[in-house]
Amino acid sequence: MDKKISILGFAGSLRRGSYNRGLLRVAQEMVPREAALETFDLEGIPPFNQDLENQPPEKVKEFKAKIRAADAILIVTPEYNYSIPGVLKNAIDWASRPYGDNALEGKPVALMGASIGMLGTARAQYHLRQSFVWLNMYPLNQPEVMVPFAQEKFDASGTLTDPKTKEKVKELLQSLIHWTRRLQKA
Ligand SMILES: Cc1cc2nc3c(=O)[nH]c(=O)nc-3n(C[C@H](O)[C@H](O)[C@H](O)COP(=O)(O)O)c2cc1C
Repeated sequence: MDKKISILGFAGSLRRGSYNRGLLRVAQEMVPREAALETFDLEGIPPFNQDLENQPPEKVKEFKAKIRAADAILIVTPEYNYSIPGVLKNAIDWASRPYGDNALEGKPVALMGASIGMLGTARAQYHLRQSFVWLNMYPLNQPEVMVPFAQEKFDASGTLTDPKTKEKVKELLQSLIHWTRRLQKA
């Protein structure tokens, strides 16, 4: 049997009742047996300062080590002002620096997101995909998991209640596992 795929997941919202954190929790519940999904909380990562990139804060060192140890990455992004939240971009910026020490380099990555708008984070996800080019990550193209009108699919505590969305999350994880295995064999 193939070795289990280790996935590191993080969400770009710090909000307690966050739909996106809820989506990540569902991914943990639904992760197929061939994989393990660990999550990382971006709370506490300070604003990026290039003066400190060679001596990053402990939280950033921990983040980079967890990324390096993972076979694949799962990013769950809200959409803020038609793009990705600063919290998420900031974490990615730290993880990619200093030049030549990009922890995300060569990692397979899947993404999903939930918003209260009708496009379900589509614009944010395409902005994030643009960053994957320079980061040299290998994004999974499909399925695209964009959850619109999140307020109708999650309860007040941020728990996903919509069965169709749960199925999409499962499909995404399965596809990420296949994609990661393909890349490992290449
Ligand atoms: C600063 C800010 C900007 C936002 N911009 C968008 C947007 O561009 N598109 C959208 O669909 N929702 C937007 N929203 C609403 C979010 O979809 C909503 O707040 C959602 O709950 C955020 O995700 P979370 O629940 O994981 O925190 C914005 C919210 C904030 C706080």
